[in-house]
Amino acid sequence: MTEDHTTAPRAEPRQHAPAAASAEQAQAWNGDDGRHWVRHRERYEAMQRNFTPHLLRAAAIGTADRVLDIGCGAGATTRAAARDAGRGHVLGVDLSKPLLAEARRLALEEGVGNVAFEEGDAQVHPFPDAAFDVAISRNGMMFFADPPAAFTNIARALRPGGRLAFSCWQEAAVNEWLVTLWTAIAPYVELPDMGGSGQPGAFSLADPERVRQLLGGAGFTDIAVEPVAEPIHLGDDAEDVVEFVASLGLIRDLLAQATEENARQALAALHTELAGHQGPDGIALGAAAWLVTARTPE
Ligand SMILES: C[S@@+](CC[C@H](N)C(=O)[O-])C[C@H]1O[C@@H](n2cnc3c(N)ncnc32)[C@H](O)[C@@H]1O
Repeated sequence: MTEDHTTAPRAEPRQHAPAAASAEQAQAWNGDDGRHWVRHRERYEAMQRNFTPHLLRAAAIGTADRVLDIGCGAGATTRAAARDAGRGHVLGVDLSKPLLAEARRLALEEGVGNVAFEEGDAQVHPFPDAAFDVAISRNGMMFFADPPAAFTNIARALRPGGRLAFSCWQEAAVNEWLVTLWTAIAPYVELPDMGGSGQPGAFSLADPERVRQLLGGAGFTDIAVEPVAEPIHLGDDAEDVVEFVASLGLIRDLLAQATEENARQALAALHTELAGHQGPDGIALGAAAWLVTARTPE
């Protein structure tokens, strides 16, 4: 890399137009979804926080490493990686302007200088060749319209013998937080197709065999897919979580399609169910992810 990253948070971002195939994702993450993430950033962070130590352990970032954070969002893992790579630097890449603005703001606020953020689509972003020692992602790899292109592009950006470490959700059925939500509201609303393994979306990498095939096809070796289970903190109490859930675009749409009475009952049922999970620190439910690691050949 030839860029000076020491003043990176203040640097003008380089921009590359997303590929047409990602237009839908770019629109979502630059529109309602992105704005929702910014507004509820701390809650989303609390929901994912427990996976970060697993990711960092798997990435084994050295103090001088050059790190690429794919789908970095508001940059929590970018900043965490930058602390591990104290003499190196970290580049966070994301499609979402609002989340990148938040990432830059937080890096400045926390005085993390060895980071830079670029707007781009990981499937086609013109990363310099062999410029990174390690690529990481916390739940940012599942939204590719063309996963083979994305993983090939990421492999190209890694040096020979470079490392890949990312987390992604296991299937919805083994994620207690989702099962709890769906089971409570199912009698009152028409549940959506959550986009299973294969379609861009939260569960597109839920099948480990597919992950191995995609990474193998992109030239990665030493591929490992390890289960990780952690509680995730959803909110302070049932009321707080119901309010958040009801503000999610997907749920708002479901409720809007139901009768007023069914929508009311769905939220009441969710409240009752969540109240049963109240603990001293709020409401935490089980979550299951895969921790995926691989290498580029020497
Ligand atoms: C579930 S969020 C995770 C954000 C962040 N990694 C975190 O842990 O908070 C997924 C992120 O992936 C980004 N994303 C989706 N498709 C992308 C693509 N093709 N290239 C780069 N980023 C992408 C979204 O904009 C979003 O910020």
